[in-house]
Amino acid sequence: MIHKPNSSINPLVSGKTPPTIVVIFGASGDLTARKLAPAIFNLSMDNLLPSSCFLIGYGRKEISNDAFKDYISDSINKHSRRKISDKAWEALQDKVSFHAGAYDNLEDFHSLKREIETIEKKLNEPVQCLFYISTPPSVFKPILENLGISGLAKRHRNREEESKVIIEKPFGHDLASAHDLNAIINRRFEETQVFRIDHYLGKETVQSLLVQRFANSIFEPIWNRNYVSSVQITVSENLGVGSRGGYYDRSGALRDMIQNHVMQLLALTAMEPPSSLDPESIRNEKVKALQALKPIVLNGNNSEVVRGVYSQGLVDGEKAIGYLQEMGIPEHSITETYASLCLHIENWRWKGVPFYLRSGKRLAKKASEIVVQFKRPPEILFGKDSKYAVSPNLLVIRIQPNEGITLYLNSKTPGLETKLQPIELAFGYETTFGSNTPEAYERLILDALNGDGTLFIRGDEAETSWGLLSPVLDYWQDQGKKGLENYASGTWGPLSADKLLLGRGHEWLTGNMV
Ligand SMILES: NC(=O)c1ccc[n+]([C@@H]2O[C@H](COP(=O)([O-])OP(=O)(O)OC[C@H]3O[C@@H](n4cnc5c(N)ncnc54)[C@H](OP(=O)(O)O)[C@@H]3O)[C@@H](O)[C@H]2O)c1
Repeated sequence: MIHKPNSSINPLVSGKTPPTIVVIFGASGDLTARKLAPAIFNLSMDNLLPSSCFLIGYGRKEISNDAFKDYISDSINKHSRRKISDKAWEALQDKVSFHAGAYDNLEDFHSLKREIETIEKKLNEPVQCLFYISTPPSVFKPILENLGISGLAKRHRNREEESKVIIEKPFGHDLASAHDLNAIINRRFEETQVFRIDHYLGKETVQSLLVQRFANSIFEPIWNRNYVSSVQITVSENLGVGSRGGYYDRSGALRDMIQNHVMQLLALTAMEPPSSLDPESIRNEKVKALQALKPIVLNGNNSEVVRGVYSQGLVDGEKAIGYLQEMGIPEHSITETYASLCLHIENWRWKGVPFYLRSGKRLAKKASEIVVQFKRPPEILFGKDSKYAVSPNLLVIRIQPNEGITLYLNSKTPGLETKLQPIELAFGYETTFGSNTPEAYERLILDALNGDGTLFIRGDEAETSWGLLSPVLDYWQDQGKKGLENYASGTWGPLSADKLLLGRGHEWLTGNMV
């Protein structure tokens, strides 16, 4: 018998979450329009928001409440996975307003506080605040400081209505800046109030990684150095930097993708089983896996890093320009649009198993995938004779697109001759569950409202990841253009990235699968 989910166990559905005010800093921006407003709307459609839930947009420009309501409803119409009905909008619109203020002006935060207290007085019960910092990172610090000094951070401390803050990515630019941000956060907030977002963790397939690993007994016995020969994590894009060249050039592939999304996928793949589903148990195990990573070899024949930059080429049959020709890119830029790394986890489970990570722009296709490659069977029967072509078993976890899981096994082809061929046992999310699954931001906003930090990055996790990667960034900075390799747009990156694996007895599998 299949058990249907029981909505009454969700404290939000049972109406236990206190009345809430969501304040979005940077509400006139792209993220609010494309993701946050649609996510809040969809949560409301599913009756997952507290019965009294208000949305206050905060930004530097004067915008009237009516103009902001129009902006939010247009954004939902354009970007929501579900159509906005008049009834649903009626229920929301009276609770939407805009508060103009600077991010670095304390008085503006005091006036925001007064507005919050007015709502609270009208409701005649305590209200929790969820502050969503959706501005460029240059103003994260003043916002966090002003939330602290104005007393907004401390409202209803240690009660269920205590304030919570979601901080967008990127969390820091290197180890020192991440450490700085954490220091401010620790001064002004308790860690349990803080939700550092990496929207990858809100994706269904990423969450299901935990279920797949720990709710199935067949994987655990083989999830280690005795059976796994390598793990590969690819997060590739076929697009270039487009209009975001100025932003991207200050970031690069390592900061933009590997430090956060890819390292999170690594931590979830490599972590030990947590003792419970409690957020801290899970995050403790993730941090331990990251802490066990060996410092990366940066130079010499054993170098474990490769970086590249796209030049012109063909992507999906269309001509694409090189990175240096993109709008807003300085002529002497040394920013990498591609990075790959070979990492080693020095613990009992993973000693000797390379973890290959790569991410880049203008690659052959868009894909986010984890490929676990298993060791070959002993060379006694089929493995001994090259005519049988035994392929290693692979477990491929596709985060996007075509979310799903595929297991590659060797099978006999039909016929009188014994021939082997890899076959796929495939599960697709859409085929099994349909396509209308919640967006990552819905899951994450709901969890933050509920005070559940499982799918968010803890402060020490962010610093551990930066601690490993900051030396790579420093090294590349010192090297300038030396070692920054061109790759043609539409390919799988620099040749050295292939050599990185070939030299260690492997090859990249995503894009190269049977
Ligand atoms: N867009 C995405 O798809 C995406 C994806 C993942 C993460 N993020 C992260 O989410 C955050 C918001 O992204 P976004 O694309 O919405 O950003 P955005 O459009 O560039 O900026 C959001 C708002 O912040 C204010 N702002 C812009 N530049 C500023 C500056 N230099 N100083 C002070 N305020 C400034 C503006 O509001 P006012 O002028 O009204 O104050 C702007 O509308 C960023 O940290 C970004 O890295 C975005």
